[in-house]
Amino acid sequence: MKQKLIVGNWKMNGSLAAHQALVQGVLAGLQGLHVQAAVCAPAVYLASLQTLLQGQTALMGGAQDVSMHEVGAFTGEISAAMLREFAVRYVIVGHSERRQYHGEQDAQVALKAQRALSAGVTPIVCVGETLAERQAGRTEEVVKRQLAALIHTNGHCISEIVVAYEPVWAIGTGLTATPEEAQQVHHVLRQQLKAATAHADAISILYGGSMNAANALTLLQQADIDGGLIGGASLKVPDFLAIMAAASHCAQAS
Ligand code: PGA
Repeated sequence: MKQKLIVGNWKMNGSLAAHQALVQGVLAGLQGLHVQAAVCAPAVYLASLQTLLQGQTALMGGAQDVSMHEVGAFTGEISAAMLREFAVRYVIVGHSERRQYHGEQDAQVALKAQRALSAGVTPIVCVGETLAERQAGRTEEVVKRQLAALIHTNGHCISEIVVAYEPVWAIGTGLTATPEEAQQVHHVLRQQLKAATAHADAISILYGGSMNAANALTLLQQADIDGGLIGGASLKVPDFLAIMAAASHCAQAS
C-alpha cells in the first residue's frame, strides 16, 4: 500500500508561538513513521513555518486557501506564486468553510486548483455533502458535481491533485462518517477519477471530518481512503501523532 498522506488544517486557531511549539512537537514525534505529513497554517505564519521546516522532508508546509487570480488588483488575496515562495507544498482549496462563509462555487474552486498546480503547489480539493443533502439521498450527486467541475477545468492535470472527501456534517462536530460510509463515497470518487485519467489509483483521496486518534485506523484501513485532512485533532501534538502512527501502521501492514 502507498504511504498515507496526513494533513493538519489548523484553520484560524492558535498564535505564532503555539504554532511553533506544535511544529516542533510534531517534527520530534514523526521520526521513524512511514507517512507523508503536512500542516496547513494561516497565511501570516507561512514564513515562520518555512524556517521551522527547513532542511527536512518529513513534514511539509501547506496553506489554507489561494486566489483564483494570477496577479493584480485583488486586495487581501494571496497568489499561488506567493505561496510557492514560502516553500508551500500543499494548499487546501474549496474547504466547506470557504464554500459556506465565502460563497465559493465549484467553478471558482476548480480555477484555484488550476492556479496552484501551475505554480507547483499541490491543491487539496475538498468535496462533501451537507447534512440536508445526505438526508435527501443526494450525497453522490453532490460530490460528483463538485469533482466534475475540477476535472472539467483541470483535464489530465487532475492526476496531480489531492482530493479530500469532507462530509460537512462531520466537520468539527465530533460526528464521523463510518468507515463504510466514507469508503462508499471514496469509491464513487475513485471511479469518477478513473473515467478521467489512467492514473486515478495514484491520486490520494483523503477523508476529513472529526478524524481522531480513536477512529483513524479503521478509516485509514479502507481501500480507497489514502489519508486524512485533520482539523481539531491536528492542534494537539499527541492526537496528531497518534493519527500518523495509525497511518504508518497501515502502510507497513500492507
Ligand atoms: P475536523 O476538521 O477534523 O475538526 O472535523 C476537518 C477539516 O475541516 O478539514
